[in-house]
Amino acid sequence: MHFIITFALVAQALAISSDQQQQPLVKNPRKYSVQTPPLDTDWTYQVGTNPWPQYPRPKLVRSQWKSLNGIWTYSSASSRGAVSDPPFNTTLSQEVLVPFCLESGLSGIQGSNTIYSWYKTAFTVPSSWKSERVLLNFGAVDYEATVFVNGHNATFHRGGYSAFSVDVTDYLNGQQNELIVFAFDPTDGDDFVIPVGKQTLNPSHIFYRPCSGIWQTVWIEPAPKNHISDLNINGDAGGQVNLTVIASQSKSSSVDITIREKGSKTLVAKHSGFVGSPITFTVQSANLWSPDSPTLYDVSIKMGADNITTYTGFRTVSKDRANGVQRVFLVSLSAST
Ligand SMILES: *[C@@H]1O[C@H](CO)[C@@H](O)[C@H](O)[C@H]1NC(C)=O
Ligand SMILES: *[C@@H]1O[C@H](CO)[C@@H](O)[C@H](O)[C@H]1NC(C)=O
Ligand SMILES: *[C@@H]1O[C@H](CO)[C@@H](O)[C@H](O)[C@H]1NC(C)=O
Ligand SMILES: *[C@@H]1O[C@H](CO)[C@@H](O)[C@H](O)[C@H]1NC(C)=O
Repeated sequence: MHFIITFALVAQALAISSDQQQQPLVKNPRKYSVQTPPLDTDWTYQVGTNPWPQYPRPKLVRSQWKSLNGIWTYSSASSRGAVSDPPFNTTLSQEVLVPFCLESGLSGIQGSNTIYSWYKTAFTVPSSWKSERVLLNFGAVDYEATVFVNGHNATFHRGGYSAFSVDVTDYLNGQQNELIVFAFDPTDGDDFVIPVGKQTLNPSHIFYRPCSGIWQTVWIEPAPKNHISDLNINGDAGGQVNLTVIASQSKSSSVDITIREKGSKTLVAKHSGFVGSPITFTVQSANLWSPDSPTLYDVSIKMGADNITTYTGFRTVSKDRANGVQRVFLVSLSAST
């Protein structure tokens, strides 16, 4: 068993460095091992070290991407001010499994009061992405994150529940890129009042342990300089699509939209419009979404050199009273007119 684990780590290191020469990343940090949390299941010990291999953002999917989840290294820091002295080119003290929060058994840390934290990994960019920009994406880091790429302060993000992206192309070195994240998560400590839900540094009764640090997938993906950075899409029970596309640079680019039956080539609608304002059009005879028949459609959006996929269902929801109680209603076609 020990042999297999060691072999897997070596194989992983070889895979990472296959196209580039490997810099010594870490000397001898404490090896990762899953800890036994207070509430475990049989699956806790079956996660392995390649967690969440799926594309993490179904709402805005790019065909090319590379997950950075897996074994990173971690050290606790002493204060918020530590962020001004990042551990460039040095070894952090222990391995951590990203993206599991530092309090979890799966992270391998199972810490408490993990308020100030350093994370570190290295990544290479596939050579086929050469002509594109490289976006570094974080699904979520609780609560503040400062991100350094090859010594450059690439971005800062505040908000433990929200995703963020940064174009890191200008900081890349063409080889093993050093990625360092400083995370600060006060939870309800000291004078901090931040959105925490029921997390507390002193768990009791119905309040529970915090979830600190990187807790959602980290990944890179190629995109043109002017790319689709966000979108809002809505399909109603009358078959009307209402879509707003946000672009990273241009406020006037045109977009082409195609809608197909899920997993098929059968086209049900095609439409064009511009980024930044709602684009509306109708899909004839759309199959409505319902709990018994949860029909979804594949949506492709092309904007200049960029293209992404997303999805929609068609349904209108309302709120009304039934037997004197407020309920959520699925509005039928005839009722929606
Ligand atoms: C880290 O090491 C690289 C390669 O030796 C070097 O180019 C870089 O300047 C170092 N960074 C810092 C912040 O010392
Ligand atoms: C990093 O850059 C952000 C701006 O993106 C800034 O707010 C933050 O103070 C910087 N942090 C450090 C440690 O330089
Ligand atoms: C489309 O959605 C936007 C919000 O994104 C809303 O302001 C607008 O009224 C909607 N248009 C239609 C026709 O429903
Ligand atoms: C979408 O972009 C990818 C590269 O990201 C490209 O290979 C593919 O041909 C594009 N598809 C369309 C329909 O433009």
